[in-house]
Order: sequence, then C-alpha cells, then structure tokens
Amino acid sequence: MATFYFYVVCLVTVMGTGGVLLKSTRTLSCPGQPGHWHVECPANCTCQESCNTYLRRWVKQVSCVSRTTLRGITFPPTTQDISISNVAGITTIPPDLFSGLTDVLSVDIFNVSMATSPPASLLSELVGLRTLRLVSVKPVNLKMFANLRQLNQLDLHNNDLENVQVQAGVFHTLTSLTHLHLESNSLTYLESGWFHDTVNLETISVSDNNIHYIDNNTFQYLSELSELNLQQNPFVRVEMNAFHNLNNLRSIYMDRNQLDTVGPVLIHAQLPQLTNLYLQTSRYYWKHVTAFNQTWYFRGCPPGYCVNSLSCSVSRNTPWCVCTKEYKGDRCDVRRISRGQFLGIFVTAMVLVGISVVIILVNVGRVVARSCQLPRFRKLQETPQPPQTPMPQMT
Ligand SMILES: *[C@@H]1O[C@H](CO)[C@@H](O)[C@H](O)[C@H]1NC(C)=O
Ligand SMILES: *[C@@H]1O[C@H](CO)[C@@H](O)[C@H](O)[C@H]1NC(C)=O
Ligand SMILES: *[C@@H]1O[C@H](CO)[C@@H](O)[C@H](O)[C@H]1NC(C)=O
Ligand SMILES: *[C@@H]1O[C@H](CO)[C@@H](O)[C@H](O)[C@H]1NC(C)=O
Repeated sequence: MATFYFYVVCLVTVMGTGGVLLKSTRTLSCPGQPGHWHVECPANCTCQESCNTYLRRWVKQVSCVSRTTLRGITFPPTTQDISISNVAGITTIPPDLFSGLTDVLSVDIFNVSMATSPPASLLSELVGLRTLRLVSVKPVNLKMFANLRQLNQLDLHNNDLENVQVQAGVFHTLTSLTHLHLESNSLTYLESGWFHDTVNLETISVSDNNIHYIDNNTFQYLSELSELNLQQNPFVRVEMNAFHNLNNLRSIYMDRNQLDTVGPVLIHAQLPQLTNLYLQTSRYYWKHVTAFNQTWYFRGCPPGYCVNSLSCSVSRNTPWCVCTKEYKGDRCDVRRISRGQFLGIFVTAMVLVGISVVIILVNVGRVVARSCQLPRFRKLQETPQPPQTPMPQMT
C-alpha cells in the first residue's frame, strides 16, 4: 500500500502555487534597544524590559522564578509581560494576582505545580492579553479563557489535558486566536465543537497526544488554517470528511502515526493549497507534493510527466525534465527539427520560392505587355463626345 502511494497518483485536486514556504511562528529578535524600567519590583522577582519574540517588541516584564510563593505579590501597574516559572509546592495561584493589570499583553506560566487549580477568574481582567502560555501547569483550569477576546496565541502544551477537561465551550470566546498549541497532552480525539468559533486559527498543533480518531467536519469552520500538525498520534480512524473545507491548508504533518490509509482521506479532502505533506510510514518519508494535471504526487515525478526525457527531478514542487537531443519544451514533448528534416524543408522552400519567382515574373511580363498595348486599344474605341447642351434658363 505504501509503495502504491509513493508512486501512484494520489489526490485529485487543483493545486495552488508551488514552493510556498511554511509560515513560521518562530520570530526574530526585537528591533532597537531595551529601555529602562525603574519600578518597585515584587520580592523574589525581576523587573526589566525584555524582548517578547511573539510580539517582536520590548515589553516591561516581571519574571518570578522558583523562589516565589506568589503570595502577597503586587505587580507594577505598567507591567506588560508576566513570566512565572519553576514554582512547586504552593497551594494555588492567588485569585487576585493579576487584578488591575490592564496593560498586560503576555502571560507565561511554566512548570508550576499546586494543590488546587487556580480560579476561573484569574485572567478575567487581562482583556488585552495577546499571548498566553500555560505549560506544565498542574492542575490547569480551562475556564480561565472566557474574557480573552484579543488572544492570538494560546499554548497549553504538556498539561496532561484530557478530553473531559476540554469542554466544547472552552475556546468559544477566543475569536482572535491564530495559533493553538495542544502538544504533549492526553487528548484522545478532536472535537469539532472546539473549533466552532475560533475562525481565525492559522495553526493548530496537537502532536504527541493519544488521538485515535478524527470525525467528519472537525475543522470545517477553519478557512484560514494553513498548518495542521497531527504527528505522533496513534490514529486508528480518520473519517472521510475529516479535512472538509480546509481551503487554505498548506502544510499537514501526519508522520509518526500508525495509519497507513490516510491517502484516500487526503484525496477526498481536495485541499487546494496543500504544498507540504509530511507523512511517514514504516518505509517512506514524504515531504513535498508535486502537482501535475490537477493531481497530486507524493515526492518524485508524476509518471508520464516527461515524455521524451533522460531524467526528471522535482524542485520547488515542480517537476523538471532533462530532454533527449530530439526534444524540447517543459515536458520534452516538442520535437526539435533534425538536420535531414531541415535540409528537406530548405530544399522544398527553395523550390517553392523559385516557382513563386517564375510565376511573379510571368505575371509582371504580362502586365507590362498589356500596359504597352492599352493606349492603342483605347484610341480605337474613342468616339467623339456629343456637344454639351446648356441647361435651360429660368425666365
Ligand atoms: C522570597 O524568597 C525567600 C527565600 O526563598 C522566601 O523566604 C520568601 O518567602 C520569598 N518571598 C516571597 C514574597 O515569595
Ligand atoms: C520544575 O520546577 C521544579 C521545582 O521548582 C524544579 O525542581 C524542576 O527542575 C523544574 N523542571 C523544569 C523542567 O524546569
Ligand atoms: C463521514 O462522511 C462520510 C462521507 O460523507 C460518510 O460516508 C461517513 O458515514 C461519515 N462518518 C460519520 C461517522 O458520520
Ligand atoms: C491528465 O488527466 C486526464 C484525466 O485524468 C487523463 O486522461 C490524461 O491522460 C492525463 N494527461 C497526462 C499527460 O497524464
């Protein structure tokens, strides 16, 4: 089956332009230099201007690492970025920890374990929040997202999340969300209800979960989605219409799963923009898709693409043919004219030219002869004109 998909036509669709680069969510450093931020900093935390790589700007960051208890902390009111990490053995995150902080753009909580989950209202005042990372937070409370209408990036990886925790309404208010990370959790299937209102999502990653099933129309409202990472999941079944309506999807990562039959589902999906398909079975690793004749091919040249060629290779999702001497054109389907044929055509052309010249000369001779005879011929025909009678005058 695998070799079948390797060589044979797989997906019937119209392809978009080839060679589209992955839209990288990795960002570069911030422009300019950090400013100074003089402020009364909470105990066991540091306060400084720091580069937020997602927003690509310098932000006023409060960073509290390991020694803090988070109790009795008051963040400066101008705080834009909060980072809390490596905190263990606390009861919970105090419910009013972030109250009054309307400038906060980014919250990053990493490796925090506590006795009880933080309250649902924890982030409710951070209405301008753009990025939220809750990574290795135990336990995490997913009811915290209700107010975050500005949120672009939500990273919830490595939180032991199970389907029972991710209720259908959890992401409903996140209408600005563009990037969702749910890697390394314990999800067993993807619910279409999760993505009902997150219509601006561009990337979803659910790699390294325990997902065995994807239902029909799971992503049907995600017309902006360009990257879907499903790798490292023990899929058993993917429904035929699972990828229905993903009209902007450029990259799909499905490698390292146990599914050998994803081909027909992808064929059925007719993903018009797909240029990168990461799919690994026990034997092959496909990276790029090639388009020809409204059909997809997994790596390598479409059979029959090069007609009279020495070789065919794929570069930038486009097949390139090296033609034999006698042929040219993109597909080596245009015959070059050989020397013998050229001679034949030349001789024929010369003969035709000769005949034409003879015909022209004969005709010119005729015309000249006729023009010499014409005056005499006319003279014989000439007859005297009757005299003009004047018009009768009105009196
Ligand atoms: C700051 O760290 C010290 C030493 O670990 C600790 O005793 C103290 O309670 C901490 N203060 C806060 C506010 O977390
Ligand atoms: C997580 O936090 C604990 C306690 O502060 C620390 O011992 C551990 O090394 C941290 N783990 C990581 C991966 O940073
Ligand atoms: C998914 O869609 C396909 C194609 O329309 C249909 O045959 C199949 O029964 C559907 N599966 C479920 C579980 O609804
Ligand atoms: C292109 O696809 C059509 C329909 O599937 C097929 O009949 C035709 O032979 C294909 N052309 C080439 C050059 O493969």
